[in-house]
Amino acid sequence: MNILILGSGGREHVLAWKIKQSHKLNKLFIAPGNAGTSDCGINVKLSINDFPSVKNFVLANKINMLVVGPEVPLVNGINDYFENDNLLRDIPVIGPSKAGAELEGSKDFAKKFMTKYKIPTASYKTFDKKSLNKGIKFLKSIKSPYVLKADGLAAGKGVIICNKLEQAEDELIAMLDKSKFGKASNKVVIEEFLQGIEFSVFILTDGYSYKIFPVAKDYKRIGEGDTGLNTGGMGSVSDVPFADETFMNKVEERIIKPTVNGLKAEGIIYKGFLYFGLIKVDDDPFVIEYNVRMGDPEAQSVIPKVKTDLLDLFEGLAKENLSDKKLETDERFTASVILASKGYPGIYEKGKEIINLEKVEDSLVFHAGTIQDNKNNTIKTNGGRILSITSYGNTIKEALEKSYKNAEIIKFDGKYYRKDIGKDLLD
Ligand code: AMP
Ligand code: GLY
Repeated sequence: MNILILGSGGREHVLAWKIKQSHKLNKLFIAPGNAGTSDCGINVKLSINDFPSVKNFVLANKINMLVVGPEVPLVNGINDYFENDNLLRDIPVIGPSKAGAELEGSKDFAKKFMTKYKIPTASYKTFDKKSLNKGIKFLKSIKSPYVLKADGLAAGKGVIICNKLEQAEDELIAMLDKSKFGKASNKVVIEEFLQGIEFSVFILTDGYSYKIFPVAKDYKRIGEGDTGLNTGGMGSVSDVPFADETFMNKVEERIIKPTVNGLKAEGIIYKGFLYFGLIKVDDDPFVIEYNVRMGDPEAQSVIPKVKTDLLDLFEGLAKENLSDKKLETDERFTASVILASKGYPGIYEKGKEIINLEKVEDSLVFHAGTIQDNKNNTIKTNGGRILSITSYGNTIKEALEKSYKNAEIIKFDGKYYRKDIGKDLLD
């Protein structure tokens, strides 16, 4: 098969790394990719939201399957674009239709869906510009902390948690009345604050059956001890010891099954990864959010634990026979530590040379914001999150030790990483 992966982060590098190992692969292309993905296939200069250009490339290169990494092309309807085009219709897209992608594209849609199918989540109300005053009244009637969520995609910045009522009121006004997040905050979901420990569950589904991938935990804040600004994620660990069999049974019965069945009942045959951002409150799981893709940096820990040929599973989506396939996973733990640029998630510099990549032993290195400088034959930084150092271990501690050893060895000007990834899972 000839495969095109859309995206350029660590998630896309680990997908490319895994797909490259498939005996079903002929040619692999990654658009636009990064300096790491060019070791797995051919990087292509394409804008992932320019569907006609994607079409031209797919036809010219006889692509047999499109694997969509990030959410934006899915929310923009790339799956439907393929489905509605006579020349593209038979090329499977790994990633849901626009209707399915609404689970991530609209918080209001996701909350309504969960309410309808009795999927445990924080209680909520949605407001728009016309109901702003009602929103302010609602804030006054509930307890702190206040959780405000822009309805649409806001590059991971659309959730605001305030301790003070006045601050929550100001934020609500900024979002609804002053378009703080553009169109994404035309509607705002205000929801109950849940206290617990967060973790991520991933399934791959053909719309009818599903496979549960290894569970992961991601570390979202920039600072140690989960402090400071939210980032795309500064590290991840898989498996998660507290997500034991009894607990995962609850996740499957109360969350996964009603979600897959609910989508089907809505007439949405969802084909792709579905990410459940969950929180364990006492001993019960609740949904914080859905994402319609793999997580990043969770993928860097989860995908290396998958032993099964990923293209074989993806074919199961196309042929709707995923239930016939077996998902085999590695027993070992994995831990990923992200090396970021100084200043991230705020302003950071690019173009710093990355050295010592060849000295890494016992870890996998997945690239994100990197670029090949062909003139000098070097690899340079080109983003906020630069590399993911992923290692296996018989214990979480062992996996972390290997990743941290290599995090020290790799060097670039302004390198920053959190030193406490996975620490909460060690006791
Ligand atoms: P989201 O983009 O929906 O994942 O939200 C970003 C982060 O905000 C989550 O990872 C949680 O840490 C936090 N968060 C979102 N909703 C809630 C909630 N209802 N209660 C507590 N924390 C929340
Ligand atoms: N790691 C969080 C995300 O992928 O959204």
